[in-house]
Amino acid sequence: MDKISLTIDGQEIIANNGTTILETALENGIYIPHLCHHPDLEPVGVCRLCMVEIKGRGLTISCKAPVEEGMVARTESNEINKARRMAVELLIVNHHADCLSCAKNTQCKLQEVANYIGIEEKRLQRLRKPTGQFAIDTSNPFFDRDPNRCVLCGICVRTCEEIQGVSAIDFAFRGYGTTVSTFGNKPLLESRCESCGECVVRCPVGALIPKNVQQPSREVKSICPYCGCGCGIYLGVRGSTIVNLRGDPDNPVNRGSLCVKGRFGYEFINHPERLTRPLIKRNGKFVEVAWDEALNFVAKRLADYKGGHFAFIASAKCTNEENYLFQKFTRTVMGTNNIDHCARL
Ligand code: SF4
Ligand code: SF4
Ligand code: SF4
Ligand code: FES
Repeated sequence: MDKISLTIDGQEIIANNGTTILETALENGIYIPHLCHHPDLEPVGVCRLCMVEIKGRGLTISCKAPVEEGMVARTESNEINKARRMAVELLIVNHHADCLSCAKNTQCKLQEVANYIGIEEKRLQRLRKPTGQFAIDTSNPFFDRDPNRCVLCGICVRTCEEIQGVSAIDFAFRGYGTTVSTFGNKPLLESRCESCGECVVRCPVGALIPKNVQQPSREVKSICPYCGCGCGIYLGVRGSTIVNLRGDPDNPVNRGSLCVKGRFGYEFINHPERLTRPLIKRNGKFVEVAWDEALNFVAKRLADYKGGHFAFIASAKCTNEENYLFQKFTRTVMGTNNIDHCARL
């Protein structure tokens, strides 16, 4: 990739040609407030917070401005701060900022930019207050959507279109009534949303929040057990209970993305009805038995079918190595090629 040199806040920087001023600044440890920028998505420049001043050009949105050879930019001036402050104040006066009861508290990008820019309570009081209250959509079994906390950055809309290819949501209505909506403003559960949660993990504020949020005390790196793709995951653990799960951004298989099963389907691990001991049916009822007894029982019944009518269906939850052993066992011990599994897409 071509390299070019530019100056940001008096610091000479060598940047990759084709990157934006915002990306270059962040990569070089220079913070510029931003809300609608996400590294996985095409920039749209709607929040107006990433304003910088370029010599000879004036105020510019840095998330959409590509770096140029010899460019001189600065990220702080009275004019920049005035423009940023107005943009963030307009977001906050239209926002139900009950931060202490918000699941995003302390990890919220709106808090981050408001802290950086410095918001004065007196000025907020002079600005118009929100007139309406949007209904919270709790229809989805895995996450809630609270439009009262939405900053209309469009990250969820772009994620659903650009990454997921579903386009279940888009902006709807006008002025103070503008919101992110499904087709026909129906609850998410009745829309074409696939509940993948990709928008939830990218929402910068508390507008899209998984149900039953709990912060983990540690994370354990693992592989999703659901199918043959083998997506990388981090299990969030609290005590001995798994309380959340996220995709591993460094795993080459999924690069942080997950489907609905992988992202939200982890409750079976701690479910009280999960089978943890083998069962054998006796007189029409399942009874718990020791592992030795169960394995002897299975071995004896398999021997009864050797060379006869037998087929093996393996689970996608098995590893490749386990599936290899299953086919070996079926072919060489049971004497049949009747084997299949569902670990394919
Ligand atoms: S989204 Fe952010 S600013 Fe809004 S209530 Fe939650 S923590 Fe506070
Ligand atoms: S959960 Fe997935 S499919 Fe549903 S709106 Fe979000 S990105 Fe789109
Ligand atoms: S729901 Fe979240 S990601 Fe979507 S527009 Fe609102 S703030 Fe942005
Ligand atoms: S981050 Fe540049 S306009 Fe929002």
